[in-house]
Amino acid sequence: MSQFKTWFGKKKEAGIPEQLDETNIPKHVAIIMDGNGRWARRRGLPRAAGHHAGMKAIKRVTVAADNIGVEVLSLYSFSTENWKRPRDEVDYLMKLPQEFLALELDELIEKNVRVRMTGWKEGVPAHTLGAVEEAVEKTKNNTGLILNFAFNYGSRMEMMEAVRGIVKAVQSGELTLEQVDEASLESRLQTAGLPDPDLLIRTSGERRISNFMLWQLAYTELIFSDLYWPDFSDEHLYEAILEYQSRNRRFGGL
Ligand code: FPP
Repeated sequence: MSQFKTWFGKKKEAGIPEQLDETNIPKHVAIIMDGNGRWARRRGLPRAAGHHAGMKAIKRVTVAADNIGVEVLSLYSFSTENWKRPRDEVDYLMKLPQEFLALELDELIEKNVRVRMTGWKEGVPAHTLGAVEEAVEKTKNNTGLILNFAFNYGSRMEMMEAVRGIVKAVQSGELTLEQVDEASLESRLQTAGLPDPDLLIRTSGERRISNFMLWQLAYTELIFSDLYWPDFSDEHLYEAILEYQSRNRRFGGL
């Protein structure tokens, strides 16, 4: 919040719209970063070029989210279904966290950003995991924006694992059936400890959730942008938040 206040005095210079209401910033913004491949195809470039440009967009949007005081930014970076893509594309996607962190980790540390990973380590190559774990370790005491990479993540598997954990706890007598509640499931999800997303943005014109945080999105505001992810920038994040601020969230009440 403190960084945010210093920026807010200078909304204009920071490119933050004057109308943005600083008292109603979504705590948790989640993004399905879609359209890298189509962005590249449009330019006659290989798909890898689209993913690389997508990585650059991550930087811009992280800085923008941090500037306005978003607390958690979750980015769907690699789904459990993405393993089905051609080998060379998977290999390339597995190199990007390393490249991103080699370029940006120092600045993330300086900005007090905390890196976190939501997803399974199993199956992720050591070079990818090593880079992410180093970033998580080096930023673990930071208290600013949580930059949460959903990497090798899928929501159905996450819920299945949580259910398995609950069944085990009931079988062992650690929990009674009556004690099973939302909190017992949530504490077993990959996102345990994070607030649910207030705002979900999906780029590229697709209007699907694609197995992303199905439990956590129960009351999330959904915004779909026609832009391809590599074209998404700070101004588009601010526009999405303005749209979010115009919505009336009732959480099932009146
Ligand atoms: C979807 O676009 C995008 C992905 C599956 C990968 C997203 C990854 C990044 C933006 C970069 C990751 C970087 C780091 C640092 C984790 P698509 O390939 O499905 O696009 P298409 O639908 O147009 O083919």
